[in-house]
Amino acid sequence: MTDYAAGLDKALQALHDEGRYRTFIDIERRRGQFPHAVWTRDDGSEQEITVWCGNDYLGMGQHPLVLSAMHEALDATGAGSGGTRNISGTTVYHKALEAELADLHAKEAALVFTSAYIANDATLSTLPKLFPGLIIYSDALNHASMIEGVRRNGGAKRVFRHNDVAHLRELLAADDPDAPKVIAFESIYSMDGDFGPIAEICDLADEFGALTYIDEVHAVGMYGPRGAGVAERDGLMHRIDIINGTLAKAYGVMGGYIAASAKMCDAVRSYAPGFIFTTSLTPSIAAGAAASVRHLKTDQALRDLHQDRAAVLKLRLRGLGLPIIDHGSHIVPVHVGDPVKCKMISDRLLSDHGVYCQPINFPTVPRGTERLRFTPSPVHTPPMIDALVHAMDDLWSHCALNRAQAAG
Ligand SMILES: Cc1ncc(COP(=O)(O)O)c(C=O)c1O
Repeated sequence: MTDYAAGLDKALQALHDEGRYRTFIDIERRRGQFPHAVWTRDDGSEQEITVWCGNDYLGMGQHPLVLSAMHEALDATGAGSGGTRNISGTTVYHKALEAELADLHAKEAALVFTSAYIANDATLSTLPKLFPGLIIYSDALNHASMIEGVRRNGGAKRVFRHNDVAHLRELLAADDPDAPKVIAFESIYSMDGDFGPIAEICDLADEFGALTYIDEVHAVGMYGPRGAGVAERDGLMHRIDIINGTLAKAYGVMGGYIAASAKMCDAVRSYAPGFIFTTSLTPSIAAGAAASVRHLKTDQALRDLHQDRAAVLKLRLRGLGLPIIDHGSHIVPVHVGDPVKCKMISDRLLSDHGVYCQPINFPTVPRGTERLRFTPSPVHTPPMIDALVHAMDDLWSHCALNRAQAAG
């Protein structure tokens, strides 16, 4: 008979052996005091910390408008939605959120999912059902949710080297000109904070008759005059067929979506199991997300402050000679290049300085490129930046790491 416990032991041990076993840090954020939180250690003791690796990029998770919209919806309609979208789980809150998102991206429609992971996976795995013979061209560094969607869809896939439009062109040119095609990529890749070549990819899509699918998860709320993302900032939104975004990062709540033509959303709505066979978002979440999207359409000052804080942190770290990876986005990765030292700095930041920044090691990033990835936000004040910079200065010396510039 199968020894199931032994099977689990073996699987877990393999992760320990490879240094890939993950432990969670138990934190509780304090509303009104972001980015402060309380860390509860395994022994039950508590420490005040500053979160430096969160994805609530603008601090919207504590915004009064978002919270009051959530409270109102909760009091009005109760806890859950009570059903799938098709069977009693579509409410005015879901419809209002989708209308807000369609307007944000200047598309005819939007479709809300329980997360952007599900939105990517469900949409990309459904497209070949809609376009038989579809070939998906996928950037090599696309997020796991896109990789999963592409892998499971049973259609043909081509992986192009990261941001390499010449390679993408080669792959497109080698395929049947009449085959339906979609190019799937991101606007900001979150591990390096680099931008995708949106205009060049749209040009190739036009030339080869392909659809474009962009993941703007690390850009929505933060880029573009109304926060619709990098494609909006660059005047390219109309050239993208399907835009994917999250409501969980800059919008500070939870959920994901696609925005596209009415027909595209109707077809995905009708064919994607990940949309159909699952309970819809809780109305209070939909209400909070809609309030956040609505607010950020006009709060350019918050976007400017976000970019300012990121620029200051980069300048300060660069001033110490620390190898930051800087592509001009809001994400600030510091290249450590050694998994043990990366973890050690992260541990010491937390225990000695109350600074929480999760180490990013293999397999999330390639071996030798281990890093700390800081995410400054408008709620990270200049004194907090000061404290972080001094802590990094000390620990960098303590670990005898080089002070050299990484290639931008
Ligand atoms: C590029 C990218 N796409 C999609 C997702 C999934 O978003 P969500 O957290 O809404 O599932 C993430 C990370 O969470 C991401 O980094």
